[in-house]
Amino acid sequence: MLSAECYYFPVPTKKRIAVVPGDGIGKEVVPNALEVVRASGAAVEFTTFDWGADRYLADGTTVPADGFPMLARDFDAIFVGALGDPRVPSNIHAKEILLGMRFKMDLYANVRPVRLLDASLCPLKNASPDDINFTVVRENTEGVYMDMGGNFKFGTPDEVATQEDINTRKGVERIIRFAFEYARANGREKVMMSGKSNVMTYAGGLWQRVFKEVAKEFSEIQTQHMYVDALCLQMVREPRSLDVIVTNNMFGDIITDLAAALQGGLGMAASGNIHPGRTSMFEPVHGSAPLIAGKNIANPMGSILTAAMMLAHLGLKAEAQKIESAVLDAVRELKMTVDVGGSLGTRECAQWIAERVAK
Ligand code: NAD
Ligand code: IPM
Ligand code: MN
Repeated sequence: MLSAECYYFPVPTKKRIAVVPGDGIGKEVVPNALEVVRASGAAVEFTTFDWGADRYLADGTTVPADGFPMLARDFDAIFVGALGDPRVPSNIHAKEILLGMRFKMDLYANVRPVRLLDASLCPLKNASPDDINFTVVRENTEGVYMDMGGNFKFGTPDEVATQEDINTRKGVERIIRFAFEYARANGREKVMMSGKSNVMTYAGGLWQRVFKEVAKEFSEIQTQHMYVDALCLQMVREPRSLDVIVTNNMFGDIITDLAAALQGGLGMAASGNIHPGRTSMFEPVHGSAPLIAGKNIANPMGSILTAAMMLAHLGLKAEAQKIESAVLDAVRELKMTVDVGGSLGTRECAQWIAERVAK
């Protein structure tokens, strides 16, 4: 006879998502992306936090005490819009919130997929979706972003400013290994490491040595090295040759804006800030775009694709897939915002995608 437990079907638990819309267009694209996620029927629940410039200007809070441990403890993922506001010229709140999450939660892999959805979006002549399909794995916790350095004789004609580029053996090794694991898990064939080891010889030397060592564990994956200036040329001249690129924090930041242009602009680019096994954070690549904020013209597709990336990361693959194909439909049917050649507003574009997802 069957025991009572056999009749017990647990109700699936919802994934808990912390939402930080942030500043500028973040406050517009995020609620719209959440509508699309709701339309997908994904088993998630959202809790929104008001961290950003308004809160900072109102009461001086950037991240409340216990903010990061709370996110790690109480949530499965974090969804961020953008941070940065001209009323806070020091950018202190953005540093503490955004870089705070990346650094204090040790989200060491910034994964930025670069995929062209439709030829019409690409500024390159004759480029097709097959030509632009690669991923940048950006180191996310070290380099010049560590804010180590200082000023000597500040404000005088003899001033000296230093900004240290920090590269630890552990940090370099784990991001390179992540890139190979990513390639293996996603059926990618090649990992390219990019940097400036011809000039930054100490840090570059470490990256080169570690890359060769780690590559030995992944004999089925091809390896390649390219200086980052040459890579910029390659991204425009022959993007088809690119597969997985691993690079440091600063170069990763710069080349992913260029990569965003290949996809149609910053409004199209998605990213995840990941530490495998821990609460990770997902955000579009674009910033708060203060000049277009509040006008219902920002492109919501980058944040919608970011939400899909988050769902896939959480194991909600069918919902992620539904959202991605609805975005593709929107592109093909010109249901887009003006930056990518459409005529819809932020809300109308997201609404169209949500309706397609719900079908
Ligand atoms: P930005 O990405 O905000 O804007 C660059 C250009 O792209 C602008 O012309 C803008 O109008 C356009 N753009 C960006 N996103 C768009 C979208 N979704 N739809 C249509 N057009 C879009 O970069 P910026 O101007 O260098 O920075 C503005 C502020 O954002 C700064 O405070 C910066 O520090 C911050 N920022 C934050 C993040 C983040 O939170 N992850 C990323 C980048 C910049
Ligand atoms: C990005 C942004 C951030 C970065 C800024 C806002 C600190 O440009 O996420 O690409 O430099 O990492
Ligand atoms: Mn950037």
